[in-house]
Amino acid sequence: MQHPAGISRRPAVLAGGLLVTIWLWLAFFDGPSLPTHIVWNTSSKGGLTSPSIDAFDFPPVDSDEMRAVCSSTKWNQSLIFTCDNNHGGIGHVRNSILNCVRYAIGAGGALVMPNIALRDEDDMEHDHGHAEKRHGFGRKGMEYMFDVEHFSESLRLSCPELMLIGHLEETFSPRRRGLLPEHLFTNVPASGIEHPEEWPVRLKAWIEKHMPSYPEKEPIVIDLEQSFLHYPTHSDGHKFAHTFGNILKFRPDVRRLATTTLKKLAEWYDMPLNVSELIMNPSFMGAHLQTDNPFLERRHNSDVAYAHFPAQTAAYIEQAISAKISLIYVASGNLPEIHKLGLQATASNIAVTHKEDLLKDKDMEMLERLRWDQRALVDYLMLLKAQDFAGVGHSSFSWQIVMTRHEGGDKRKGVLESDIWSDGVSTLYGVRSSYVESSGCMWS
Ligand SMILES: *[C@@H]1O[C@H](CO)[C@@H](O)[C@H](O)[C@H]1NC(C)=O
Ligand SMILES: *[C@@H]1O[C@H](CO)[C@@H](O)[C@H](O)[C@H]1NC(C)=O
Ligand SMILES: *[C@@H]1O[C@H](CO)[C@@H](O)[C@H](O)[C@H]1NC(C)=O
Repeated sequence: MQHPAGISRRPAVLAGGLLVTIWLWLAFFDGPSLPTHIVWNTSSKGGLTSPSIDAFDFPPVDSDEMRAVCSSTKWNQSLIFTCDNNHGGIGHVRNSILNCVRYAIGAGGALVMPNIALRDEDDMEHDHGHAEKRHGFGRKGMEYMFDVEHFSESLRLSCPELMLIGHLEETFSPRRRGLLPEHLFTNVPASGIEHPEEWPVRLKAWIEKHMPSYPEKEPIVIDLEQSFLHYPTHSDGHKFAHTFGNILKFRPDVRRLATTTLKKLAEWYDMPLNVSELIMNPSFMGAHLQTDNPFLERRHNSDVAYAHFPAQTAAYIEQAISAKISLIYVASGNLPEIHKLGLQATASNIAVTHKEDLLKDKDMEMLERLRWDQRALVDYLMLLKAQDFAGVGHSSFSWQIVMTRHEGGDKRKGVLESDIWSDGVSTLYGVRSSYVESSGCMWS
């Protein structure tokens, strides 16, 4: 196997591809520097003037908690992790990439820049897909969803010991193997592995058992498989848990499209919005309409009433009525169902809107150029800032929104009553208690 270029020196590694990518990225996508507080007051006409303002930008993570974890790690120059098995929608992809980073840090190895697996869009829109087809559509770099420069810079600041490698060829070697880290733990309850601190020791034993100890100069490469909902995010303390996920920020064009969507909403519904607030109150209710997604595990959900249109939409409208909110922003890839919900909500004097309704001309073209999973990121950002949120318990997308919103709310502990979960700023329908336990394995 080839020795990956520049493995021993971080700057050389970066120069080998990553820097060039970042530079191109900046050249094409980055705008002027951003104001910290923006208040849109549409009653005084005009809304927002500069289209380049980004309401969803934030600086790279600069975290003492992460630095403490990284400086107490025993780093090993000859250990490299790849992270290319990130399948599914944003909820799955975001968490599995974060788990890869956490596992690489835990073992003191280097990390090759993660990649994201593409899904077949036809399957998602028409529900005729076969599960096997999920894996066959190629991969994209992290820039498919995320801001690569933000990721590298956050890790450089908060975990300087972690070496990031731009790219590693798919080589075969007896010293290279795939691994799902949680397989090294015997007991994995819904709340996640019980002793994540045992990971380096268990990994060492596994390496000794499965890999030859020579040639010593050749690095050991571990291709991490998709890890989802098994790593207890709070095992390094709450502050770490709520900071770590910020190493991922969405790509700039998606953030700007979401900003424009917010701006159009503010103009159209004559609603002054303070986008500096994590949760904008008062504003609108965000709803994740998910009734027709072939990626649901059907055998698991078909008996859940809230997985279907009538119960789900009735619950959402009821929630808007009791919160006295007259506008629902709907996140869904299914336009006919959004329109159906819109008609239904009219009877209760509630307006329904969505991104395709708000974005026009150039912005709409920009949205249409994005793939299905990228368009969902615009919705994701809209839902984060909504005054109230309604989603479904069987969706990782809904849960991801809830976990992040929780930090912007009054942090009231979530309560599960029959199958409805709520923490005061978000409500999920069709929730089992095991889902609540597993949510402790989702990075906020
Ligand atoms: C918005 O504009 C109206 C009318 O110009 C003004 O009365 C109000 O104070 C403004 N609100 C904010 C938050 O600036
Ligand atoms: C790095 O990890 C490998 C595999 O566990 C081990 O054989 C090697 O001794 C470690 N090197 C150091 C410097 O700890
Ligand atoms: C907007 O929200 C920020 C953050 O909560 C707050 O500091 C600021 O005072 C708000 N601005 C206005 C005009 O309400």
